[in-house]
Amino acid sequence: MGDHLELKKHSDREFVYPIKDWYFDVLAGLDFDHIRLPARWSDHCDDSFKIQDYFMQAVKKAVDDFLARGYKVVLNVHHFNGATQDPKAYQDQLFCLWRQIGEAFADYPDTLIFEVMNEPQHMVSAADWNDVQNKAVEVIRETNKTRKIMIGGVNWNGYDGLLQVEPPKDHNLIATFHYYHPMSFTHQGARWSPENTDLKGIKWMGTEDEVKAIKQHFQLVYDWSKAKGIEVNLGEFGAYQTGDMESRVRWTKCVRETAEEFGFSFTYWEFNYGFGICEREAPVLRKPLVDALLG
Ligand code: BGC
Repeated sequence: MGDHLELKKHSDREFVYPIKDWYFDVLAGLDFDHIRLPARWSDHCDDSFKIQDYFMQAVKKAVDDFLARGYKVVLNVHHFNGATQDPKAYQDQLFCLWRQIGEAFADYPDTLIFEVMNEPQHMVSAADWNDVQNKAVEVIRETNKTRKIMIGGVNWNGYDGLLQVEPPKDHNLIATFHYYHPMSFTHQGARWSPENTDLKGIKWMGTEDEVKAIKQHFQLVYDWSKAKGIEVNLGEFGAYQTGDMESRVRWTKCVRETAEEFGFSFTYWEFNYGFGICEREAPVLRKPLVDALLG
């Protein structure tokens, strides 16, 4: 459920892009069993980093609405831009957020899952991030003793970042990674991805080598997960709308099938924006993408 609660706050008002009622009707016809709910808490705090009520209420409403319909919900800290570049410098603020979120959702059922933080960036060292992430897990455990917590790695939660994660000693973790390889295909024309903004017309044909690359990456994640004894969620994958639909469908199907082959749960980025399986403003599904995801 990207591009809603994690959108940038407008400077002059309390902006939250709402999750609309018709989404639930569209989703009810599809076979998804969990929803990832990215939330940009850090934009909605007062000067002492207290999360403002309107935002807490908006997130709670979204969580409640999905839980009530039988979905598991993965709630995270998304786009906390200082912390994604220098987690050590922002760790106290990250912990402060998790103390508040942890307290607010402590009584929720175990179908609510927390994810520590979206995408520490490429410049963050694995050692720094391991330290901060493991402490954040401890902070969450102050109020949520048994809830499942998702942990991920550096390099934008890449598979290579996950391989460097040293998990805390905790029995209720899920490891998550994001998969957008090759970026020149999945992010061609994307304005927020400078190396790929000017690219266009790049196809993904599903050649032996292309498929092999995906399988090799997933195999590394699988081996890591067996060594650590932690199950895996593919938390984001998708190909941006600027690529041709046939290639996007081939790639999405291949990544989804590979995730299933390795036993990873998966969450597509995203419902109804630039990668979306649905139109932004109308309940019109992009059927080929839906089929690629659900078979
Ligand atoms: C970011 C989005 C972006 C997506 C694909 C997400 O983690 O939060 O802003 O559109 O990745 O690049």
